[in-house]
Amino acid sequence: MSETCELLVRDATLLGAQVEFTADLWLSHGRFQAIVEPGTPVAAQTVIDAAGRWALPGLIDVHAHFREPGAHAHKGTYASESRAAAAGGVTCVLTMPNTVPFCGTRGVLDQARAAARRSYVDYGFHFGVQADNLDELRSVRNAPAYKLYMNETTGIASPLCDEAVLASVMALGHPLVAHAEADTLDFLLEVYRRHGTGPLHIAHVALAREVEALRRAKAAGLSVSAEVTPHHLLLTTDDAARLGPYGDMRPTLKSAADTAALWSGLADGTIDCVATDHAPHLPEEKESGTPPPGVPGLQTLLPLLLTAVAEHRLTPRQLADATATAPARIFSIRHKGSISVGADADLVLVDPAARQVIRNEDQLTHPGWTPFAGREVQGRVELTLVRGRVVWQDGRIVGEPAGREVVTRDPGRWAEQASVRTDEQA
Ligand code: NCD
Ligand code: ZN
Ligand code: ZN
Repeated sequence: MSETCELLVRDATLLGAQVEFTADLWLSHGRFQAIVEPGTPVAAQTVIDAAGRWALPGLIDVHAHFREPGAHAHKGTYASESRAAAAGGVTCVLTMPNTVPFCGTRGVLDQARAAARRSYVDYGFHFGVQADNLDELRSVRNAPAYKLYMNETTGIASPLCDEAVLASVMALGHPLVAHAEADTLDFLLEVYRRHGTGPLHIAHVALAREVEALRRAKAAGLSVSAEVTPHHLLLTTDDAARLGPYGDMRPTLKSAADTAALWSGLADGTIDCVATDHAPHLPEEKESGTPPPGVPGLQTLLPLLLTAVAEHRLTPRQLADATATAPARIFSIRHKGSISVGADADLVLVDPAARQVIRNEDQLTHPGWTPFAGREVQGRVELTLVRGRVVWQDGRIVGEPAGREVVTRDPGRWAEQASVRTDEQA
């Protein structure tokens, strides 16, 4: 009996636990159908030759700002920013609620869901915590996490640091993501130690002392995880001076000693994943008298990390773990984060040897700039598949937006969601 599949990705280099190995990938119905010896006979509708290319699970960026709905949509939309994601090998984004209006009501979330229908990649929505929206938090569905803003940043005028409010949110047991820098992180971890019930994820760790605080929290058995951005790993206060407003973000860039602590934190697992904090702002806004903080990062994430692999700062396996496996695990994103039979066929093929210089002109993010312009990198994203559909190939966006909302875990509702997912696919 002869085997069939919709798409055959031939001779791809996969990254196993210890070794790289070559395999053929069979894809059908948006899933990985089989991973087999190269040359195993199959009748395929389409064949992609991946000889000499690394196959990585599509990257999951758990921290991106897509600016819809509302007053900041001129900075970037689900349509524009998801193209930058596809070009960067990012097949799934979790977007942040600091839109204007704030995404802390189901009404605003409905508008975000409507805007996201124009996304090229899959997506989920972190839902915002406010001093008085406990009822909204209780009734929202399918939010990977609730977001706590505990320092001032774009769109956040009054950060939330009231222990009683934090305790009542923590009592809900749902995953939390926090923007909490330096002293504020110490305060949050103390409140969490007293009141925490569900998991806590720390956004954009930037300081050596924050890595230390996390290391202690993990050693004490707290259910905490953390992300680091490429800009905090690769840029320092020297770059901030050179870049001016284009190198300003929250947290700000730190010292070379902090950067070194972030790399060791990533290597020893204190920091679980890399997330971009992709935060588009227009050049005219950056050059104004009151430049908003934030930098784009979706399209440059993978080339920068592949360069780190080439420089032996990271293994290929650690790269896949920090950008796909760990994000899917932390936020319980169903069917994503690995190249395995039955998982969504979210796949990136990269040429690990190709060298290129990052240029503003090549950026698909709506504002059209990157703080990494001029940097030479090793590694190019050649092909991006979202659930088996080509979205990026040969330097171009392909097809129409067909991103979908991911399925994650509501407290106690995993089983119910599983049946929704099955119906949808029938
Ligand atoms: C982010 C933005 O512009 O939305 N800016 C930033 O500097 N990181 C907000 C944030 O993540 O704090
Ligand atoms: Zn933040
Ligand atoms: Zn952010």
